[in-house]
Amino acid sequence: MRGTADRSAERRVHEATLGFPEQRRGGALGAAERISDAGQRPLSGHLVVATFPRDRERLERTGAVIDEALRLYPPAYAIYREPVTETTLGGYAVPADATVMLPAYQIHHDERWWDAPDEFRPERWLGSSDDRPEYAYFPFGGGPRHCIGMRFARMELQLALATILQRIRFERVTETLEPDAKVTLDPGTVLVRTETRE
Ligand code: HEM
Repeated sequence: MRGTADRSAERRVHEATLGFPEQRRGGALGAAERISDAGQRPLSGHLVVATFPRDRERLERTGAVIDEALRLYPPAYAIYREPVTETTLGGYAVPADATVMLPAYQIHHDERWWDAPDEFRPERWLGSSDDRPEYAYFPFGGGPRHCIGMRFARMELQLALATILQRIRFERVTETLEPDAKVTLDPGTVLVRTETRE
């Protein structure tokens, strides 16, 4: 049976991140290993499928990995709004119907809000709450039209990663991502080597 108690689903999640949120400075491996060190817990029931809500509550660090991946590489890298009436934003007059771009990618990499913004550091999401402005991070948009699937998407990601990583080990092949701003952020070709876990 795979996924027995001596195997940590969380560790596997962090191993998998080596293939996706790759860093310009190659720091993902170290970060993933560091964050995996403490509090290893297997998924419930020794099952190969992670379930909601029981396992999800135990996947806090998996959530941190997801949050950090969405910070570095927000699929919706910019969103747009058009004010219906003339307004002022940050001291700038904005006419009605102007297109205002909210550049999530740039804000997620802004060193005013993030230490070492280009590094993959999931541990920044653990522990006490931070004192950043609310919109220093908005991979799911914000306000009344924020993503309706936000919680569902995050839950899916947590459970899917934990489930996959009970069965498969990933090894990074592509060393550096060169994301391309298409309709969504396109990571380009990402090669990983896979191995079935015994
Ligand atoms: C990682 C996954 C996802 C990301 C990064 C994401 C991101 C976003 C963002 C940034 C917006 C706001 C767009 C804007 O303000 O112009 C949005 C809106 C929306 N998303 Fe998502 N989304 C994700 C998954 C999902 C899922 C799984 C669903 C449905 C089950 C969903 C349904 C919607 C809908 C319906 C809206 C429009 C809401 C409105 O205009 O009132 N999204 N999403």
